Amino acid sequence: METTTTTIDVHLEPDWWRTTLEQDVRNGLTAENKSIPAKWFYDELGSQLFDQITKLDEYYPFRAEREILRDYSSEIVEAAGADTLVELGSGTSEKSRVLLDAMAKANMLKRYVPFDVSEEMLRTAAGDISRDYPGVEIGGVVGDFDRHIPLVPIGGTGMVAFLGSTIGNFPPASRTRFIADVASALDSGGTFLLGTDLVKEPERLWAAYNDADGVTAAFNLNLLTMLNRELNADFDLDHFEHAADWDAENEWVDIRIRSTAAQQVCVKDLGLEIDFAEGEELHTEISAKFHLDGIASELADAGMTVVKQWTDSNDDFGMTLARKE
Ligand code: SAH
Ligand code: AVI
Repeated sequence: METTTTTIDVHLEPDWWRTTLEQDVRNGLTAENKSIPAKWFYDELGSQLFDQITKLDEYYPFRAEREILRDYSSEIVEAAGADTLVELGSGTSEKSRVLLDAMAKANMLKRYVPFDVSEEMLRTAAGDISRDYPGVEIGGVVGDFDRHIPLVPIGGTGMVAFLGSTIGNFPPASRTRFIADVASALDSGGTFLLGTDLVKEPERLWAAYNDADGVTAAFNLNLLTMLNRELNADFDLDHFEHAADWDAENEWVDIRIRSTAAQQVCVKDLGLEIDFAEGEELHTEISAKFHLDGIASELADAGMTVVKQWTDSNDDFGMTLARKE
């Protein structure tokens, strides 16, 4: 039987999770405009709720991206000419399988490098992939997009994939830095495959983030449950509500948690008493939407040239393959 080498490099210090959470929550709740970074959505329940979101009728991005991958993965793989697939924010690695299958079919697949902040999810996914793709070297990386992209081992003909339009969740300055980090990590000739949700009718965008079953609301509000559990906070979930609206000027969906009453919240582990006015909002996430030419120009600014762009049959979602000069 063919043997598989699997290694997992953990770049997060043992106390990273706690220290960063405490810092982010202290800074975010004491600022004039309250906010918590979107990366804290993905605890165990948060990851499950995100998985449920991807199956909602209203949440078209997941299906649209899957359609592109299903229809064009052979073309993508051929154009990239890669023997290594690096996937950033790999989650369950479900979508990577379509690309891995196409690489295997073209006899090109040597190495798969999943990268995620969630160690447990990454270990499970790496185990599943090593079982299903015998002979493929797996080099998982547990790290944070904000700090560890330069440490990802890509190699000469690697393709870095960033799917699901997760890039839309970065604030503009972080997005520019992230793209620059990916460009620096690639060798000349290496490629970047970027999935992005496209600007469309506000009604469909609104519905995708305000689903009738309230799954997106539960995903957003789970952040408060996580803070109650991890930092001994006492957010009363009956007095907060989900809010998500299309911001046409910035071309992003703006996601917040709104206080429905004047109230005080205690975050015991941080020694904080935080006042919320009625209607005051805690900002949790943006989900930016894109134009294909805008993506090409952001990538060009970082020294990458578009090889080809694909969309699904409804033009809802875009996939861009770009090569480092
Ligand atoms: N690629 C998958 C999952 C998208 S969900 C798909 O397209 O369906 C976003 C993923 O990014 C989650 O797995 C989450 O754990 C990871 N993630 C979020 N913030 C991160 C960060 N700062 N650094 C690394 N991974 C992060
Ligand atoms: C992971 N990311 C691309 C999702 C999005 O659509 O921005 C996260 C999400 N937030 C609410 N619903 C889905």
